[in-house]
Amino acid sequence: MGNSLIRRSAARLGETIDARRAEAASRLDPRERSRLGQFMTPTAIADFMAALFTQWPQHTVLLDPGAGIGSLTEAFAEEFRKRAPRGATLEAHTYEIDPILLAYLRRHMSDIATPIIDQGLGFEGFVHDRDFVAEAPFLGGMGARRFTHAILNPPYKKIATTSAHRRLARAAGLETVNLYSAFLGLAITLMAEGGEIVAIVPRSFCNGVYFEPFRRYLLERAAIRHIHVFDSRTSAFRDDAVLQENIILRLVRGARPGPVTLSFSRDASLQDLVSREVPFTEVVHPDDARVFIRIPSGAPEVPGTGTFQHTLAELGLTVSTGPVVDFRVRAHTLPNPREDAAPLLYAHHFRDGHLVWPVTHKKPNALALTPETRKALLPRGFYTLTRRFSSKEERRRLVAFVVDPADLPHPLYGFENHLNVFHANKAGLSEDLARGLAVYLNSSAAERAFRVFSGHTQVNAGDLRALRYPDRATLAAYGRWARGSTLPLTQDAIDALVERPRGR
Ligand SMILES: C[S@@+](CC[C@H](N)C(=O)[O-])C[C@H]1O[C@@H](n2cnc3c(N)ncnc32)[C@H](O)[C@@H]1O
Repeated sequence: MGNSLIRRSAARLGETIDARRAEAASRLDPRERSRLGQFMTPTAIADFMAALFTQWPQHTVLLDPGAGIGSLTEAFAEEFRKRAPRGATLEAHTYEIDPILLAYLRRHMSDIATPIIDQGLGFEGFVHDRDFVAEAPFLGGMGARRFTHAILNPPYKKIATTSAHRRLARAAGLETVNLYSAFLGLAITLMAEGGEIVAIVPRSFCNGVYFEPFRRYLLERAAIRHIHVFDSRTSAFRDDAVLQENIILRLVRGARPGPVTLSFSRDASLQDLVSREVPFTEVVHPDDARVFIRIPSGAPEVPGTGTFQHTLAELGLTVSTGPVVDFRVRAHTLPNPREDAAPLLYAHHFRDGHLVWPVTHKKPNALALTPETRKALLPRGFYTLTRRFSSKEERRRLVAFVVDPADLPHPLYGFENHLNVFHANKAGLSEDLARGLAVYLNSSAAERAFRVFSGHTQVNAGDLRALRYPDRATLAAYGRWARGSTLPLTQDAIDALVERPRGR
């Protein structure tokens, strides 16, 4: 009977937390919310995260930095009640700086304590009203690497090079560009040997150029044991409409790299979860100088895609961010074409895959030729372009178009900064190669391969360099197919071509 009472009180606590989270979220100032990166973990995800821990020692010391109202500590405490050995104790340390959330957190900690103590287990909860990034160096400095467990959904916010947070993280040996990676890095630093960390964080650190020092920091100190991926971009935090794609990581401080469990679910309910194990070398390729953390797709591999092995350099091609930054050359932009001006192409000049230029739009259509603007222009020719930004509703991130010089009889072209441009040493490509490259980039196989290492809505030139491509002959064959096709190039038609077993 005692147990069922505890279960009932725990169930009530779960409901209370959902209600408190909604109430707390509604009381937060939206600007402040964005400044502090306050997106709260839904209960189903918090429970899933807590269930990933594997070690339940006699004395557990938990770290929950950026605790909000304490949802993660509460999910952890539930798991502790279920799995810790008889007589075990839990010492929970939470860090939070928002006064509204702190009030909820304090109330919440005493609710968390009751069922644990009722069950005959020990509990000590600490609410530290402190900036975790400022506090962490002192915790570590005192030789206090004593946390056995850390559970975190840290704030997401870029940190400026000159900010106090950047200096503080740097002092701890951590060179990083976002608060979430600073929190995760500092949590790793503070863990006891063998300590486990479960964190929900944006995927952007897995391949971002600026995150390379952070990836090295993480991989030198901890082993990745589990990565959970949400298939849809907004599902993890539906009620907060967070755009970044999130992953859940389980790390073990000081452990050797070993097999990594990958799990996938479509949404926050985690009902359709599938998982599999892959060797660590599939996640971080041993010869990858930039140490990307790659997340192989959940779907079975498409036959043949594994044979696309060529780098752009091997194909003799380069991809660059569109070199024209319009506000820097504002004095030279023109609303309408002129004979002595270059077309200035934006993503909105492509409709249903076709160039429509000029168009009536608030953005300019052309760029006057001056010594300054000429430096950013490319000579007339065939180019393959991709958009750098997609909206969260769009199914695809890779969207490619071809510029055909027959449509633009000007000697020089301007490509605006929201596009990526494939070129051959700053000149155009052959028509077949340009069209074939667009076919490949628009295929489902390329999209899947791309998503293995990119989790955000942006498509950066660096990501396109990391992608692997078919060889020149195959690309040219795709190009001939596209040129010869009298029907629209539908997704099905492209996929049937690209996924056809090679040699047929
Ligand atoms: C993404 S929210 C997550 C809250 C909670 N962990 C959860 O999962 O629901 C991050 C929290 O970190 C807090 N925060 C932001 N900057 C902080 C800092 N420097 N030190 C401590 N907490 C901070 C925010 O107020 C916010 O409550």
